[in-house]
Amino acid sequence: KELCSLPKETFDLVIAANRLPVDRVVHPDGEVEWRRSPGGLVTAMESVMRGRDGAWIGWSGDPGEAPEPFREDDMQLHPVPLSADEVSDYYEGFSNGSLWPLYHDVIVQPTFKRRWRAAYERINKRFADAAADLAAEGGTVWVQDYQLQEMPAMLRAQRPDLRLGWFNHIPFPPVELFMQLPARESLLHGLLGADFLGFQRKADAYNFLNACRQLLAASVKGDVVRLPDGHATRAAAVPISIDAQAMADLATTPGVKARAAEIREQLGNPEHLMLGVDRLDYTKGIRHRLKAVGELYQEGALDPATTKFIQVATPSRERLEAYQHIRSQVERTVGQINGDHSPIGAPAVTYLHRSFPREEMAALFLAADVMLVTPLRDGMNLVAKEYIAAHDGTGALVLSEFTGAASELKQAYLTNPHDISALKQSIMNAIQAPPDVLARRMRAMRRQVMTHDVQRWAEDFLTNLAAAPERPR
Ligand code: ADP
Ligand code: G6P
Repeated sequence: KELCSLPKETFDLVIAANRLPVDRVVHPDGEVEWRRSPGGLVTAMESVMRGRDGAWIGWSGDPGEAPEPFREDDMQLHPVPLSADEVSDYYEGFSNGSLWPLYHDVIVQPTFKRRWRAAYERINKRFADAAADLAAEGGTVWVQDYQLQEMPAMLRAQRPDLRLGWFNHIPFPPVELFMQLPARESLLHGLLGADFLGFQRKADAYNFLNACRQLLAASVKGDVVRLPDGHATRAAAVPISIDAQAMADLATTPGVKARAAEIREQLGNPEHLMLGVDRLDYTKGIRHRLKAVGELYQEGALDPATTKFIQVATPSRERLEAYQHIRSQVERTVGQINGDHSPIGAPAVTYLHRSFPREEMAALFLAADVMLVTPLRDGMNLVAKEYIAAHDGTGALVLSEFTGAASELKQAYLTNPHDISALKQSIMNAIQAPPDVLARRMRAMRRQVMTHDVQRWAEDFLTNLAAAPERPR
């Protein structure tokens, strides 16, 4: 009885993301392990939330009942339950079978099912209820990403006292594609429940404003959308980043430097080491990259004895067919390239399908002479920025024009991954560039990444949110 009369703990800052920063894995013997969740959202938001006294609402990554709330790194983590059916309809279905491919230029065909859409609405309501319960009077709720686009309006209906922001970690599609989405109006109305909407690029914010203009006949003036009830929402670009200093520091620790040297040695101290690091996703252009590298070996432009390529591919969304398909294509191609070109005992391509600790990632970045980031579409791509932060000196970045990062990293070897000849040329340009050219390019990119880090991004976002719908002074 006494327990019930205790005041309930509430938070001035609550973030809601589909996933918690940690992922609950149950092993076959019943042992439970919490691992860091995959993906760029967690990389960025974990650094932002560490040290702020806030709460994080999200799914534990495991179907069934939600674990009790718990504390980690000054954060209060509040698991939201998803049943096995909800995982398949809301997460794998509407989020990753409809929205993900639609928002990434329909690289694969999106699927639309009414059952998925109903589950999406229901789960967004569940997240809104959880946030309504946890946020302090007049507090701030910061909603993350495409899985929670209906949540802002649902939360505003319950808690008009809150400041509501939403950030889209992925692209927002042109209206010609967005309009394919059944329930497109509800998603726009859902987002318009927020005070401020952040996007990776100006083009994404523009696409959203344009969708409001064309599909809702809403009043759009500049970057502000106004609804008939008077509520106004501002939409603008606030490009995300990484904890640049943390990566730079990690890359200069003796352990990481020694490990980087060891990686090169294990590969036979190659003249050139190329690296790719991605979630195993069809948006990342891994197939195009392998095609280019395979042809360069085939033509003799690259010598498989002295130029090696490491491809790290984190397992992702493995129950979805499109992901099983890309995995088998990548694995077959790696096998073909090695079968055709590798010397005995020294594969040209080293393929690693698993997650690694941060230290090992830093060592890989440090060891690589050329980083290949070739997505067909990517909201930002934090890997590109991590590579830059890890390199004080030389190192070359081959970067797809279809990433958010390309708007900031102009001194990269920018390339169109659809054009295999152009991609091959970009790789050769990066490999053959003289050290002074590489050093000059790297200095300029480093300046950009080190001064535009994730802490600055969070401050920018929260300042915009506090001032919305006006521009911050
Ligand atoms: P996405 O969010 O689409 O996965 P990003 O490039 O923006 O792509 O972010 C990926 C994040 O995951 C980066 O912080 C990267 O270092 C990390 N990462 C990728 N692959 C691995 C891996 N195999 N082990 C550990 N971390 C990884
Ligand atoms: C991208 C998305 C995130 C997502 C991550 C990993 O970064 O923007 O929202 O969490 O990929 O994907 P997953 O489906 O495993 O959460």
